[in-house]
Amino acid sequence: MALNLAFIGLGVMGSPMAGHLAKAGYSVTVFNRTTEKAKQWAASHGGLIGETPAEAAKNADIVFCCVGNDDDVRSVTTGENGVISAMKAGSILVDHTTASAELATELDTACRAAGLHFIDAPVSGGQQGAENGKLTIMCGGEEEIFNQCQPIMETYAQAVTLMGDAGAGQLTKMVNQICIAGLVQGLSEGLYFAEKAGLDQKKVIEVISKGAAGSWQMVNRHKTMVEDEYNHGFAVDWMRKDLDICLSQGRKIKAKLPVTALVDQFYGEVQAMGGNRWDTSSLLKRLKATD
Ligand SMILES: NC(=O)c1ccc[n+]([C@@H]2O[C@H](COP(=O)([O-])OP(=O)(O)OC[C@H]3O[C@@H](n4cnc5c(N)ncnc54)[C@H](OP(=O)(O)O)[C@@H]3O)[C@@H](O)[C@H]2O)c1
Repeated sequence: MALNLAFIGLGVMGSPMAGHLAKAGYSVTVFNRTTEKAKQWAASHGGLIGETPAEAAKNADIVFCCVGNDDDVRSVTTGENGVISAMKAGSILVDHTTASAELATELDTACRAAGLHFIDAPVSGGQQGAENGKLTIMCGGEEEIFNQCQPIMETYAQAVTLMGDAGAGQLTKMVNQICIAGLVQGLSEGLYFAEKAGLDQKKVIEVISKGAAGSWQMVNRHKTMVEDEYNHGFAVDWMRKDLDICLSQGRKIKAKLPVTALVDQFYGEVQAMGGNRWDTSSLLKRLKATD
């Protein structure tokens, strides 16, 4: 049976993800707060537009959502004209937003009360991963429900993994962000040191990226860092939102995150330099500014 899908939130990530669903032949109805973006999306992909999240979701078997933070998700799900009020019995809500584990539990409860199912499914891989259909997706929820959604998410992902009950996807994404925070600061310090030592930074990276220090950030970000170019990539504002979620969860489960807390403070300084929308690799710019 052909599935009807809805996609709420056509931002940097949501727009290409919904595009992959349409390209795979699914019938997709979209909603975006700024209507112009929904019109542009429908003009290129041929899908339908809902005037509200509820309207977009009413005939869907699965509703996907990718907005900003916890409150944004609440507004399109449990808020006025949110999807949960309109979804048909037995249908599934999949949230791709990077949000708190508490929100996942809250939505799981709200969905159960309405006769629906919920999967939290934050993503990693950035704009490039969304556009190329190569995201990594970490999920929380019931296995039987996950199994129904997995092949559909595979239209825009290279790996879709169930990590546990509702919230486990968000907890895994927190681990991802904790690992990245310290790593980007380490890469920034390395490049900064190389420059001070009079080395050719690009040549240094060519050599060491093949060894134990290699990382995605090193391979994909060193060139722009050396060129002092940060108007691209994953915005510092989003990273601070994510680190706030990690630090708050850490306090709750008594997990010490000293480096994450320090790097979060550094990102606060990047924001004060006007870097709200700069890529997270701009930690190097902050280091140089403190010379
Ligand atoms: N960008 C990345 O590299 C990346 C990577 C991994 C995860 N993520 C996560 O994915 C999520 C989306 O990121 P993005 O880069 O796609 O962000 P984005 O380009 O800023 O898009 C955000 C989307 O959410 C909508 N939205 C925000 N608040 C809303 C509200 N209160 N009600 C209705 N719609 C609302 C926006 O609508 P408008 O168009 O009207 O503003 C837009 O469609 C975030 O949680 C982010 O942390 C991003």
